[in-house]
Amino acid sequence: MSVRRLADQQPESFGFTPENEAWAATEIAKYPAGRQASAVLALLWRAQAQSGYWLSKPAIEKVAQMLDMPKIRVLEVATFYSMFNLAPVGRYYVQLCGTTPCMLRGAEDIKAVLRKRIGESGHVTADGLFSWNEVECLGACCNAPMVQINDDYYEDLTPQSFSHLLDDLAAGRPVRTGSQIGRKSSEPVGGLTSLTTLYGVDGLSGKASVASQPPANDQPPHLAHLDEGAAHAHAAAEEAHIGEALAKLPADATAEQKANAVGARPLALEAPRGAADDLQRVKGVGPVNEKHLHDLGVFHFDQIAGWTTAEIRWVGTYLAFPGRIDREQWVAQAANLARGGTSSKVVGGHGDHDVKAGR
Ligand code: FES
Repeated sequence: MSVRRLADQQPESFGFTPENEAWAATEIAKYPAGRQASAVLALLWRAQAQSGYWLSKPAIEKVAQMLDMPKIRVLEVATFYSMFNLAPVGRYYVQLCGTTPCMLRGAEDIKAVLRKRIGESGHVTADGLFSWNEVECLGACCNAPMVQINDDYYEDLTPQSFSHLLDDLAAGRPVRTGSQIGRKSSEPVGGLTSLTTLYGVDGLSGKASVASQPPANDQPPHLAHLDEGAAHAHAAAEEAHIGEALAKLPADATAEQKANAVGARPLALEAPRGAADDLQRVKGVGPVNEKHLHDLGVFHFDQIAGWTTAEIRWVGTYLAFPGRIDREQWVAQAANLARGGTSSKVVGGHGDHDVKAGR
């Protein structure tokens, strides 16, 4: 472990806010008499949170005084754990995992982006927005490479997606936490490889909804390139399931209420990252639907490519064509287009235009 020292510049004093003082008293009271030192991590953590995510010498001394501990003991704790910062950090503090799984999956490329965009480890950008540090395994190895920014994890990063993420944070735009390629938890990138007998259990109803077997290439239907028949079967199952859920709603439910009842709204961008992608290259998306997608904050192929089943249900229901996104395989098309390919391998027969209701 590297030597960790206190910052050269220190504030004169530290005091908890009245609210944090009261919280600390409750925390300390959780431990038996004579064991108040057990609250040291909690108090240091709260002191750090109150001080812009770093711990000053006066803050460490204050905690020692409150817990009746020698200052050196609290200093030992603060300098041991990398969760405590001993110098000021940026508003967005990036912790890059550099341990073996992340390193093998491209952490060095992410580090190169950090060096280029922010500077060396520990440096805070002139606008105070960013700083970074390399840390050991953060426990999300399955989705390597990853970083933690403040309290959130960002996984399955590429240099491009990570650069976009920094752009979005700098511009105050909303960002997607977790996997940046839309996979759920730590499921395999290419779809299920085990427990496939559970495949097809619908996330909302628990009923078999799609098929008892995964598609040939072992990907979930919304990610896989299905033949037209399989895509239609999947879409029909989705339509039936959504129809069942919508039937329980009042007749005057709004489009948004309906969509919320069956799915989850995808993350929206306030504006495109640079030039918007030509979404009409996704077969089934014409000028009207492109406009609808823009209104929903969707401007890029990679956004559509990252939609989960719940998000497909939300968009399809909101736009009043449940099942259609699955039938036309927008997600698989968009993934192909995001990789620089064409959409034509995925869906045949509809032509490059909206196919329903003149959309
Ligand atoms: S190795 Fe990076 S999260 Fe575990």
